[in-house]
Amino acid sequence: MSSHLTAPAAIVLAAGQGTRMRSRIPKVLHPLAGRTLIDHVLDALSVAGIERPVVVTGHGADAVEDAIGSRAATVRQEQQRGTADAVRIGMGGLAGDADVVLVTMGDAPLQPAELYTALMAEQRRLGAPVVVVTARVEDATGYGRLVRGQDGAPAAIVEERDADEAIRAIREINVGTYAFDATWLRGALDRVSPSSSGEYYLTDLVAIAIGDGRPVGVVSAVYADDAIGINDRVALAAAEERMRRRIAEAHMRNGVTIVDPSTTRIDATVEIGQDARIEPWTILEGATVIAQDAVIGPNAHVRDSRIGPRTRVWASVLEESTVAEDVQVGPYAHLRPGSEVGPRCRIGNFAEIKKSRLGAGTQQHHFSYIGDADVGDNVNIGAGSVTANFDGTAKHRTIVRDRVKLGVDTMMVAPVTIGEGATTGAGSVVTRDVAPGKTVVGIPARPIELRRGAKPGAGAGSPGAGEAPVPSGADRNP
Ligand code: UD1
Ligand code: CA
Repeated sequence: MSSHLTAPAAIVLAAGQGTRMRSRIPKVLHPLAGRTLIDHVLDALSVAGIERPVVVTGHGADAVEDAIGSRAATVRQEQQRGTADAVRIGMGGLAGDADVVLVTMGDAPLQPAELYTALMAEQRRLGAPVVVVTARVEDATGYGRLVRGQDGAPAAIVEERDADEAIRAIREINVGTYAFDATWLRGALDRVSPSSSGEYYLTDLVAIAIGDGRPVGVVSAVYADDAIGINDRVALAAAEERMRRRIAEAHMRNGVTIVDPSTTRIDATVEIGQDARIEPWTILEGATVIAQDAVIGPNAHVRDSRIGPRTRVWASVLEESTVAEDVQVGPYAHLRPGSEVGPRCRIGNFAEIKKSRLGAGTQQHHFSYIGDADVGDNVNIGAGSVTANFDGTAKHRTIVRDRVKLGVDTMMVAPVTIGEGATTGAGSVVTRDVAPGKTVVGIPARPIELRRGAKPGAGAGSPGAGEAPVPSGADRNP
C-alpha cells in the first residue's frame, strides 16, 4: 500500500424513483428532523472527511440538484439502468485521484459517519477491491443477501429475485453501502453484464472480485435500523424517531437537560447551550439557537429563533424572532416573524408581536398586539393595547419611546409616535403624535389638560368641549 493517502471520494446514488413513497416529491428530498434525507447523508460523509461527494440524480433531478446546491457535485443518470450503471456515471463526476471510493444511497440518512470511517479503514486494512456493509435483519424481504462460503468468507451478493429458497432464508443483507479500490472499480464496472431484467447490478462486483482472486471485506452495521435505506413512509416515521432520539442524546451528552425526550422534537439544525433545560412537549425547529441556562417549555414551539441566556419560554409559539437574556415569554404568547425582544422583558397571556422591537424591561401582557412597531425600554403595554398598523392598503409603523405607559385598551393608529415618558388613558385612540411626558386620553386621544380645559371655568382659547374633535396641532407641545 502507498504511504501517500489521497482523500477518499464518495458517490451517493439518488436517481431512483422511490415508488413506494407514493409521493410527488423525490424521495431524497423528504424531510427528516428538519433536513432532507440527502442532507443527512452529505452531513455524515462530511464528518467522515469526504467533502465533495458526487450525487447521481435522475428522477426529479432538477429539484434534487437545486436542493443540493454546492454541497456536492451532481451527475445525471438519464435512464435508471441499475446501480452499477449509476456508479459508472458517478465515477465520471469524481474530481481528483481518490484511491478509495465510498458508495452509498441518498435514502439512508441514519448511517452514522463512524460507519463510513470503519468501512474505509477496513478497505485499507485488507487492500480489498470491495468492502460491503451488511446488516442482520428479522425480515430480509426485498434485499440482496450476502452468501458466504463454507469458511464463512463472502462469496456473492444475490438479489431477492434471483435467490432460491436457501438463499432467501439468509438474514444477512446487503445494505447498499460499499468502499471500493478506485482503480479496480473503474475496470470492474465494465465487466458487469446485464441481469435477466436488463439491469446492471453493482452487487455483481462481489463475485467479480472473488473471481479475480481478491479478498472481499464485510463490515457489519451495529444497528441494522441505522444502516438500511428508507423505502416508504412507515420507514420514514421510524427513521424520524431514531434520528430524534439521536439528536436529543447528543444534546444531553453536551450538557443540556431534556426532561422527556419522547415528547420533545429537536431538529438536527438546532443549537442549545449548556445547562439549558428543555421541558416536555416542546418543538425546536430550523435555525433555532437556545442560549445557556434558558428554559424552554413545557409546550413551546420555537422555529428559526434565537433565545438568550436564562430566558424562559413557556407554552408559546415563536417564529423567526430574537429574544434577549432574562426574558419571560408566556404562557400563550405568539412572536411572529421579525420580533426582537430586549433583555428582561415580560411577554405573556395572549400577547402577539410581529416585526417589532421591544427594548429592555418592557412588559406586554393580556390580549395585546404590537405590529410594525419600535417600542423602547421599560414601556408598560397595558391590557388590550393594539397597534392599528394596517390602513387597508399599507402597513405603517408605530414608535413608542422609553418609559411610556399605555393604558388599558390603548389603540395606536399608525403612523404615530408616542414620546418618552408619555402616558395614555384607558381606551384612548391615539391618532396623532404624543409629546414626551404628556398624558393623553379619549377618542381621539388628546392631552388631558386640554380635555379638563373644556370644563366651565377653563381659560379662554381652550379647545372644544367634551368629546368634540380637537383642532389639529392642539396636542403638539401646547
Ligand atoms: C439494492 C441492492 C440490494 C440491496 C438494496 C438495499 C443492487 C443490484 N441491489 O437493491 O442488494 O439489498 O439496494 O436497499 O444494487 N439507483 C440509481 N440508479 C439506478 C438504480 C438505483 O441511482 O439505476 C439508486 C436508487 O435511487 C437507490 C439505490 O440506487 O438509492 C438503490 O436502488 P434500489 O432500486 O432501491 O435497489 P434495490 O433493488 O432496492
Ligand atoms: Ca431500495
